[in-house]
Amino acid sequence: MLSYKELGLVNTKELFKKAIEGGYAIPAFNFNNMEQLQAIISACVETRSPVILQVSSGARKYANQTLLRYMAQGAVEYAKELGYNIPIALHLDHGDTFELCKDCIDSGFSSVMIDGSHHPYEDNIALTKKVVEYAHSKGVTVEGELGVLAGIEDDVVAEHHTYTRPEEVVDFVTRTGVDSLAISIGTSHGANKFTPDQCTRDENGILIPPPLRFDILEEIEKQIPGFPIVLHGASSVPQEYVATINNNGGALKDSIGIPEDQLRKAAASAVCKVNIDSDGRLAMTAAVREVFAKNPAEFDPRKYLGPAREELKKLYMHKTKNVLGSAGKA
Ligand code: G3H
Ligand code: 13P
Ligand code: ZN
Repeated sequence: MLSYKELGLVNTKELFKKAIEGGYAIPAFNFNNMEQLQAIISACVETRSPVILQVSSGARKYANQTLLRYMAQGAVEYAKELGYNIPIALHLDHGDTFELCKDCIDSGFSSVMIDGSHHPYEDNIALTKKVVEYAHSKGVTVEGELGVLAGIEDDVVAEHHTYTRPEEVVDFVTRTGVDSLAISIGTSHGANKFTPDQCTRDENGILIPPPLRFDILEEIEKQIPGFPIVLHGASSVPQEYVATINNNGGALKDSIGIPEDQLRKAAASAVCKVNIDSDGRLAMTAAVREVFAKNPAEFDPRKYLGPAREELKKLYMHKTKNVLGSAGKA
């Protein structure tokens, strides 16, 4: 048993309290490898932003669970070396079983998500409550989820959104004891959040996706005032990355994300954690494709992963400064 406290990590309690009071959101960036982690930490140190490092079960399989945990420990030291001790949480993204959550808690995670949203309501409550009881005994914070996002979550594919039902949230948070609640108000995972026929076009022909359901968010806030809310599937899918990828041999289709003004509006509310993974994947892929298109003979990974890391850092700095408002809050 290794506590996150020994690793210099923090849980999300204080982070969320300050974010709600201050009208901003903490970035939760997924990482699977060293370059992504370096970019997240250097961007957040440079912009003085607190950060949540997110690890999915897919990331644990890809990078090895032990290695990832040591990387997060290294991230704390790396931030100090860069000159500023920002608060860093290590969070399990979309935990699906009690055993996985326990394993993460026992190996140094400071926060876990138990995603019981695909289960019937009472089963979601029972599973979430079990995780909360164990996590809280170790000082670890827990995110639960109500409502189902359209799109792909790990291996689960949902055709349509099932929006969070505001009438369930009081019962869910009181019976489970969760520290934060992920909700479904129209975001979804991946780079294809909307089909073109769900969108309208502006005067320049740019596709405008349907707005998020802020009416549902407001209703939830009325039911559980001041309670930390989490938005998954919050990538904006920057069109310049899509164009760079497609102009350099890629084949991305119908790549449409959540407009930044919608995320700014959400970050000013009780939404205090915003999950971003796909935008980082797009930034990396765009940078790597550009290097190979310009120099097909390149074969030193540092020559393409280095530019990918630079592009990622720019993206993350933009998120903390111009979208989530977390810059300067560390
Ligand atoms: O919600 C999903 C995250 O983007 C993680 O994706 O399961 O492919 O690592 P992954
Ligand atoms: P995106 O696919 O929109 O980046 O969402 C990531 C996410 O919600 C991770 O849990
Ligand atoms: Zn998610």
